[in-house]
Amino acid sequence: MSNIDDIFISGMGERRKIIDDFCRASPMFGVVVRKVKDRYLEDLNGHYLYDFGTQDYLGIGFDQKQVEAAVDATRKYGTVVAWCRLVATVDLFTKAEDEIAKLVGTEASSIFASTTLLNHGVIPALMGNDGVMFLDKSAHATMYEGAKIARDSGATLVSFPQNDMGALEKLLIEHKEAKKKLIITDGVYSMTGDYADLPSLDKLAKKYDAMLFVDDAHGFGVVGEKPDDTHPYGFKGNGLVKYFGLDYDNILYVGCFSKAYGTFGAFVACSKTMKEFFLSQATPHDLGGVGPASAMAALLAGLEINGERGEEKRQRINVLTQKAIKGLKELGYTVENNTVFPIIYVKMKKPEHMVETSKILYDNHILLTLSPYPMVKKGEEGLRVTVTCTNTEEEIDQLIEAFKIAKAYLATVE
Ligand SMILES: Cc1ncc(COP(=O)(O)O)c(C=O)c1O
Repeated sequence: MSNIDDIFISGMGERRKIIDDFCRASPMFGVVVRKVKDRYLEDLNGHYLYDFGTQDYLGIGFDQKQVEAAVDATRKYGTVVAWCRLVATVDLFTKAEDEIAKLVGTEASSIFASTTLLNHGVIPALMGNDGVMFLDKSAHATMYEGAKIARDSGATLVSFPQNDMGALEKLLIEHKEAKKKLIITDGVYSMTGDYADLPSLDKLAKKYDAMLFVDDAHGFGVVGEKPDDTHPYGFKGNGLVKYFGLDYDNILYVGCFSKAYGTFGAFVACSKTMKEFFLSQATPHDLGGVGPASAMAALLAGLEINGERGEEKRQRINVLTQKAIKGLKELGYTVENNTVFPIIYVKMKKPEHMVETSKILYDNHILLTLSPYPMVKKGEEGLRVTVTCTNTEEEIDQLIEAFKIAKAYLATVE
């Protein structure tokens, strides 16, 4: 390592150092994969893994219709779209924006290269130098970052604990004179699969003339309108606002394509006026690239697949998720999942055993997402399992078997 590298790395804060040490100790960080087919992976040593770390929920990343659409678009438009949106746009992007608006039920939508960029661009654009942001303390880090960029320009940032409507209302009263008020929340929470209480948040937004910004990166494609006992996610995968049967009068709804749709990009569903505003005001639109046309071709094919086979896919996710939850609970794990959403959070009783547990799971062919402190709060450390409709029953059996072997180890140390 050169001296200049040393200066930056040795200056790492204590929290970052914990993550750095953890990443070096566990085989389940930074895995390099040389072969992928649906949920079967092989790492560089040829060790195979069943993938419970991806969020390709609808399992369409390997659907031939989607693959062919991406290849055709690459031939037609080249490998990259180099303009920023403000200068020019390939027609696939505007077509996708119209289709997304139709699906979620808004007047328009605006597509960005990723949810991260969207959050970094749209939140500051909305806030200018005098807005007030009411941020859910459990919101995804990319919304925090967007909010901090806005704060740098003079906007005010306050936060409230997840689902604490009393605390939020108090803050809304405190800042009621502010013209621009933005409540910022996840839709489906990315760690636990819990659903934000959008009906209560929307009610407060309407009462205090605020806008509700919902990042439903995980929910879009899985949850949707008119849920019932046999269809717990609802229909169409058109998002959490539809799931709760709300209108979009005070809501900006954000969805993502790199999860359920197996491609790349994100959108904010909004009015036509807002769409025009974002084009000139959100930094990623006027200063950055928007990603390849192939991502939009894949998305458009994905939307067709959703129309043809989406319900069947969501039912399959439901069956596999229930099987995994049941198996893990029977082994005695503390499993957090109140919604049957395909995010299953397995809490660690003693987080100091997480590295060893991850080694056992990895050796037993399981890849999942580790969540040590400080990636999550102290006491919340755990292992996140995500289930997609292309996981097989055998893979779920192997997941449970691997957790059983880990449990035998944990029983000796807990
Ligand atoms: C709620 C939420 N927002 C944003 C992101 C980032 O998404 P992207 O990969 O599109 O940048 C994620 C990814 O995990 C997420 O869960």
